[in-house]
Amino acid sequence: MTYQKYLTLRDGTEFPAFGLGTWKSAPDEVYEAVRAALEIGYRHIDCAAIYGNEAEVGQAIADGIAAGDVTRQELWVTSKLWNDSHRRQHVRPALEKTLTDLGLDYVDLYLIHWPIAFRHGVEFPESGDQFLTLDEVPIEETWEAMLGARDAELARQVGVSNMGPERIEALSSVGELPAVDQVECHPHLQQRKLLTYCTANDIVLTAYSPLGSKDRAHRKDDEPPLLDHPLIADIADELDATPAQVLIAWALERDTSVIPKSVNRGRIAENFEAQDLEFSDLQMEAIASLDKGYRYLDGEFFARGESPYEADQIWI
Ligand code: A2P
Repeated sequence: MTYQKYLTLRDGTEFPAFGLGTWKSAPDEVYEAVRAALEIGYRHIDCAAIYGNEAEVGQAIADGIAAGDVTRQELWVTSKLWNDSHRRQHVRPALEKTLTDLGLDYVDLYLIHWPIAFRHGVEFPESGDQFLTLDEVPIEETWEAMLGARDAELARQVGVSNMGPERIEALSSVGELPAVDQVECHPHLQQRKLLTYCTANDIVLTAYSPLGSKDRAHRKDDEPPLLDHPLIADIADELDATPAQVLIAWALERDTSVIPKSVNRGRIAENFEAQDLEFSDLQMEAIASLDKGYRYLDGEFFARGESPYEADQIWI
């Protein structure tokens, strides 16, 4: 039986630290991936409207529950508000669409996906006028509507994604800080300043791309995959584990939540078993030395052409 770690959110809710990521899981693959994950023992599935696969994820959840693999109460489902629905009147309909796709009455956690806004109905902008600035739609307005959706019991918890301390702190003017901030986090981007801020404010940090996301379509350089790093390989050998397991266990050891994506049953099982690994202080110190503030997902996509956004300003 694999150990399952829970992190306690500010209101006392127990949040399963380890989950399955579904970004870039093709709709025809994600059904089997989620079914396998629930069978293996995963209790947390991370989704988003923009991933274009919530209906298939929802079908897998329904079938997993029907098969007795999990109950709705045991399961944690996260989804995210897309950038075209930041205005107050668009937040609840976007969440309702996600609930319809997932076939659920509520999500456990709903996040503002990015601190970036588009005109309503724009999936990915093709011109500057398809963006909205955060002066036009302040994040505070979106956050207030997120809290409203939570109070209407469409989401048990609400939070944010891709936001740094400055941006999160500004939300306190609305009355409440997010329960969770989901950001890219792995040994090359350890997010120490953000993690310190989150810990001090009872915000749980969820680490996305914990394996250093092999898809580097968003970057022009050729940083080698984190999974191939010799230091990670050495520690994996010492622990009789795989590099992916080391990266996942490292995230859990730091009391962050972690959501590795896989559509391969063997790797889904391998990643789950990472929860049982334990590090020595020396191994943790060695991994700490790998931090270099490197983003595999650098935000350039949102800053191209006539965009009013600058990549390095996204994460403040
Ligand atoms: P696949 O879905 O074919 O398993 P991240 O969550 O950091 O973005 O990483 C996801 C990428 O890592 C995907 O390409 C996924 O491919 C791959 N991956 C997931 N688990 C493992 C593993 N245990 N070993 C190697 N690669 C993995």
